[in-house]
Amino acid sequence: MTAAASPETVLVLDFGAQYVQLIARKVREQQVYSEIVPHDTPVSELMARQPKGLILSGGPASVYEAGAPTVDPALFASGLPILGICYGQQLMAHLTGGTVSPGTEREYGHAELEVLEPEPLFSGLGSPLKVWMSHGDRVTAVPPGFRVLARSGNAPVAAMGDASRRLYGVQFHPEVHHTPDGNAILRHFLYDVCGCTGDWQPGSFIEQSVRELQERVGDKRVLCALSGGVDSSVVAALLRRAIGPQLTCMFIDHGLLRKHEAERICEVFGRMLGEQFVFVDASERFLSRLDGVLDPEAKRRIIGENFIRVFEEESAKLGQFDFIAHGTLYPDVIESGGGATATIKTHHNVGGLPADMKYENLEPLRRLFKDEVRQLGVQLGLPAEIVQRQPFPGPGLAVRVSGAVTPERLHIAREADAILQEELEAAGLTGAIAQCFAVLLDTRSVGVMGDGRTYSQPVVLRAVTTEDFMTADWFRMPHDVLARIATRIVNEVPGVNRVLYDVTTKPPGTIEWE
Ligand code: XMP
Repeated sequence: MTAAASPETVLVLDFGAQYVQLIARKVREQQVYSEIVPHDTPVSELMARQPKGLILSGGPASVYEAGAPTVDPALFASGLPILGICYGQQLMAHLTGGTVSPGTEREYGHAELEVLEPEPLFSGLGSPLKVWMSHGDRVTAVPPGFRVLARSGNAPVAAMGDASRRLYGVQFHPEVHHTPDGNAILRHFLYDVCGCTGDWQPGSFIEQSVRELQERVGDKRVLCALSGGVDSSVVAALLRRAIGPQLTCMFIDHGLLRKHEAERICEVFGRMLGEQFVFVDASERFLSRLDGVLDPEAKRRIIGENFIRVFEEESAKLGQFDFIAHGTLYPDVIESGGGATATIKTHHNVGGLPADMKYENLEPLRRLFKDEVRQLGVQLGLPAEIVQRQPFPGPGLAVRVSGAVTPERLHIAREADAILQEELEAAGLTGAIAQCFAVLLDTRSVGVMGDGRTYSQPVVLRAVTTEDFMTADWFRMPHDVLARIATRIVNEVPGVNRVLYDVTTKPPGTIEWE
């Protein structure tokens, strides 16, 4: 057998599953490096990556549909261990001589798994197991050489395996947290079937990445677009370690930041980077370019475009730069390359950049997930207040002020947001919330204050819980905390006479309002 790649890699073939990123993340949580590749990647290319194993993801198709995504059947004779999940299992069965029966109804939700043969996937887990299913078709007869390892009420072949070829399939989803033993099942596949040893630690990424950055950059200079968010801060810390004085970090205040944000960033990075940190106050330019612009996508485009222009103009004053560094993460890469996936919002660090940029891009985090980037930040010595912070959209408060973006309206959104953050912090709730903010609406309502009638603007509070920001639930905020926040906002922020709480999940809502 050829030597495996380092770090040991398990590739996830993407059949369009909603959960494909989650599979790769769950694999990495087991200290095995994982990447997502298109399902039609040629077998020779897959083999050239020297993976320890493959996972075939789920997907919305049926194997009987015309044009359903498939793989070269030679894959199953390649000698690589393979785990098929849901559609992946059906495809494996379909291509190796089993029977897949079209489902008349979709089975969706919790199911009980009766384990018939615990080894190797269910070793030590007992029976029955709680699992989570989401499928229409199902495997009804295993292919020659396979054995039925588990069944459930609606799936006579809820798990199957051929130990001699190291091919396994499960109808349920081990990657979702509704399958409580899912991590153990994945771990059995990775360690007991694929023979992985667990050599992936985001920390081990530092050395490799530092080497790669040094080789690529040589003696040239790099400009790092620092937003103060986790991602660009980690990029800055990594580049500083790799190329030291060849790095310049530029932080642009576009006038759309949270209260005290600019001061805080200048304080942390001024201390860390000294003269390599450059602060640019471009708020007037951005506000004048946004004057009269109401459409959210137009706001994003203007902000993205002006960011780059300001970088170009300001960096030109500092001499020649060849590279610009970004905090692009693996989910951005997958989503931007998704092809078939619809553009819901143009996230400006990827899609919204003008095409005529004159720098070469450096994206050292493009293979990492957010939680891994946070771990890296800790290892690089960034303060907890930076590493643990919530994401903040590049276009900032411009997409949290519905309609016209004016200094007065920004002030309202900023003050309301600051009260929200303060009260959540005081109530000890920030750790339970993935993201929270205030949105100023583009409408007015009647109220009464003191003895007088008011006709002012409403603020919406949004607080969500989410693992991956692709789906989200609204945070069940204690009513007394909500009441305190609402009272403070109407009392302390002039121009606001009503406070609402957003109880929409994503989907159908998005996290931001614009
Ligand atoms: P949505 O609103 O799409 O947000 O559910 C998902 C996550 O992305 C952030 N977001 C942005 N980030 N530029 C960014 O850098 C943008 O234009 C942008 N729009 C949304 C949002 O804050 C949430 O974390």
